[in-house]
Amino acid sequence: MTYVVTDNCIACKFTDCVEVCPVDCFYEGKNMLVIHPDECIDCGVCEPECPADAIRPDTDPDMEDWVEFNRKYSEAWPVIITKNDPLPDAESRDGETDKMEKYFSEEPGEGG
Ligand code: SF4
Ligand code: F3S
Repeated sequence: MTYVVTDNCIACKFTDCVEVCPVDCFYEGKNMLVIHPDECIDCGVCEPECPADAIRPDTDPDMEDWVEFNRKYSEAWPVIITKNDPLPDAESRDGETDKMEKYFSEEPGEGG
């Protein structure tokens, strides 16, 4: 089992999640984070910390694609262990639909 980051993180990136993870398994893209499924120890501590409610256990329905998405980008992006300011429009974009199509970028974030 693992937890994964899903699409409402996109264009928000509040980063509260990274501060509580005991194994530092969050990775940073330009406008979202992902969790490495093989490093996550399933503690569940990060899920309630996300203001955008973007973190889910893979036991939720239809999470298979999100697990592979998180795996793919966690192997391409740098680790992030320090909380940063959210993206500029995070509050207004929380809950917006079609974020993947509108805002997702494969570019890595800065990490750190
Ligand atoms: Fe880290 Fe625990 Fe969240 Fe997994 S469930 S990403 S180990 S805080
Ligand atoms: Fe994203 Fe929520 Fe973390 S918006 S960066 S998963 S706190």
